[in-house]
Amino acid sequence: MLKKRGASLLPLIALFFLPALAAAQTAGAAASGATDVERGAYLTAAGGCYGCHTDVKNGGQPFAGGRAIESPFGTFYSPNITGDTETGIGGWSDTDFLRALKEGISPAGHYLFPAFPYTSYTKMTDADALAIKAYLMSLPPVAAENRRHDLPAPFSWRWLQWGWRLLFFDAGPFQPPAGASEAVARGGYLVEALAHCGECHTPRNMLGGLKRDRYLGGTANGPDGERVPNITPDTASGIGDWSEGDIVTLLREGMMPDFDNVQGSMAEAIEHGLSKLTDADLEAIAAYLKSIPPLGSEKQ
Ligand code: HEC
Ligand code: HEC
Repeated sequence: MLKKRGASLLPLIALFFLPALAAAQTAGAAASGATDVERGAYLTAAGGCYGCHTDVKNGGQPFAGGRAIESPFGTFYSPNITGDTETGIGGWSDTDFLRALKEGISPAGHYLFPAFPYTSYTKMTDADALAIKAYLMSLPPVAAENRRHDLPAPFSWRWLQWGWRLLFFDAGPFQPPAGASEAVARGGYLVEALAHCGECHTPRNMLGGLKRDRYLGGTANGPDGERVPNITPDTASGIGDWSEGDIVTLLREGMMPDFDNVQGSMAEAIEHGLSKLTDADLEAIAAYLKSIPPLGSEKQ
C-alpha cells in the first residue's frame, strides 16, 4: 500500500512515464508492452463479444446486451456485460468472470446456456480472459436490465444443462496439435478458443452438441437457420483451393476469391471483430485452417 509520501510522488512518476505510455498506445494493442486494457480491447474483438452483446438493431449501447439470438430451442437475449453494478457485471470478481467465461457458471451458481460460447472460451488463458474483463470495465457502465430469454420448457430449465454439460462440454485449455508450428499453434488458439469459429462452422446434433468428427465441416442449419460453409481444406466441398492469402482477405475485408462479399453472421463477425486482427494473427488462422484434416460433404 502507498504511504502518504509515496502518494505525493505519484504525479512526478506519472509524468516520467507519460512518453512511454503514449508510445505503447501507438505500437498497437497486440504488441508486447501493451496495457491490459489495450490487450483486452484486441482480444474482445477476436472473441466477437460486441456482436452478441450489443443490440445494434435497436440502437443499444455497446456491450449492454438485449440482442436477440435465435436458436432451435427458442430466443436468447444477451445480458448486459458493462461495468454497471446493478444491471451489468460491475460487481463481479475476477474469479466470477473466469468461472462464467471458462466454465459457464454464473456467480450465483447457475449453469449458463451454451448460446454463450463458453464451450470455446474455456480454452482461453486466464490472462487473456482477465484482459477482456479489464477492457470491459474501462468502458462507461450502462444501466440496462437484462431481458428474460424466451424459451419453452424444458429448454428454459437451467438445471437440465447439467446433463448437457456431461455429454458435450470439455473444460480445459487449448492444446496445440502435436508438432504444430508457432503460427499453427497461435492460429489454433484463435480459431478454437477466442474466435469460436467451430460454434458456427461445425454441425450440431439434435441436442445442440457439436459433432466433433465434423469439426469445421459446415452445416445447413447454422445460427439463425443460415447455411454455414465447410472451411476444412477439402477441395470439393471445403476451401481447399483457397490460398492462405484468400483466407486472410476474407477475414479482413469480407471479400471472397470470386470478389463476392460474404453475408450474414460471418459479415458481422468480420465487421466487429476479425477485421481488427493483425496480419500476423490472420495469417496464423489461415495456416491453422490449412493444417486441419479435410472433410467431404456430410451425409444427410
Ligand atoms: C454467440 C453469442 C455470444 C458471444 C459471441 C458472446 N456471448 Fe456472452 N453471452 C451470450 C448469451 C446468450 C448469454 C446468456 C447465457 C445465459 O443466460 O445462460 C451470455 C452470457 C455472458 C456472461 C454472463 C453474464 C450474466 O449476467 O450472467 C458473460 C460474463 C459474458 N456472456 C461475457 C462474454 C464475453 C466476454 C464475450 C467475448 C469473449 C462473450 N460473452 C461473447 C452470448 C454471447
Ligand atoms: C457467427 C457464426 C460464424 C462464426 C463465429 C464464424 N463464421 Fe465463417 N461463416 C459463417 C457463415 C454464415 C458463412 C457463410 C456466409 C455467406 O454465405 O455469405 C461463413 C463463411 C466463411 C468463409 C467462406 C467460405 C466459403 O466457402 O464461402 C470462411 C473462409 C469462414 N467463414 C471462416 C471463418 C473463420 C476462420 C472463423 C473464425 C475465425 C469463422 N468463419 C467464424 C458463420 C460464422
